[in-house]
Amino acid sequence: MRAPKVVTEVPARTWPRGRAPGEARVALVPTLGYLHAGHVSLMRAARERVGDGGKVLVSIFVNPLQFGPTEDFARYPRDLEGDLEKCASAGVDEVFHPDAAAFYPPGFQTSVEVGALAEGLCGARRPGHFRGVATVVYRLFALLQPDVALFGEKDFQQLRVIQRMTADLALPVEIAACPIVREPDGLALSSRNAYLTDPERERALSLSKGLRAAQRAFAEGERRAEVLTGLCREALQTADARLDYVELCDPETLRPVRVAERRSRLLLAAFVGKTRLIDNLQLG
Ligand code: PAJ
Repeated sequence: MRAPKVVTEVPARTWPRGRAPGEARVALVPTLGYLHAGHVSLMRAARERVGDGGKVLVSIFVNPLQFGPTEDFARYPRDLEGDLEKCASAGVDEVFHPDAAAFYPPGFQTSVEVGALAEGLCGARRPGHFRGVATVVYRLFALLQPDVALFGEKDFQQLRVIQRMTADLALPVEIAACPIVREPDGLALSSRNAYLTDPERERALSLSKGLRAAQRAFAEGERRAEVLTGLCREALQTADARLDYVELCDPETLRPVRVAERRSRLLLAAFVGKTRLIDNLQLG
């Protein structure tokens, strides 16, 4: 009897299916729909990743697991027809748009929980949110088996949570990060901007204005976190936007830092009227 070969090395890729050499590469852009130019920038980056012969997949699924009981799941904006047009003009090959009951069949009860990265910032204010995000993204990866998946820095904590999950669970999916797409006046594009009235849209500029004020102060030599976050607080206050949080963080661990460095990330969330908006930027 021949002894089996003992492998102690941990392989880099563990997915059940490997893509054959020469087989088209697949890029996935997961979304909640109500697509805008931020999503489209991810689709274009996806095409660049896989080339003309590759396949660009977009998922449109308002994932019930990531919304809290008092949040906007039921009224989250939806426009499948408009979304499909945007996907078509961005050269998307396939749109995955499952029914919630089919995506989470009866008996579904497993979730993916990322640790410390998911605990602060939005994680502290939206209990269970990142569990819902990690679970849906894991399941999308398992079902669609992309080679690469693209996420926006707009949801910076989400990006870090997904990168962590992918590394920790050894998922053979490359995670690509894309920069925030903004309106010419600085407002970060978001499907939730659709909730804003015209005056609220004006007040919502205070998020990016505060971040930019902090960025300028950093360029002029300011390094104290409390002063930099204070500039964001001030901008929000002036616009009568209600601060949810503002924190200066290490860009990898998302732990708060007291002294700013070039790569430090300033992250904030605020309510403008009833609408909760988030934004962030790298200081240097
Ligand atoms: P959604 O809010 O639709 O965002 C889908 C992707 O688009 C995310 O990676 C997000 O960071 C990116 N995105 C949104 N606005 C952007 C902007 N202004 N510039 C650049 N990228 C932007 O995030 C989700 O959906 C969900 O949580 C999801 C990952 C799909 C899981 O359900």
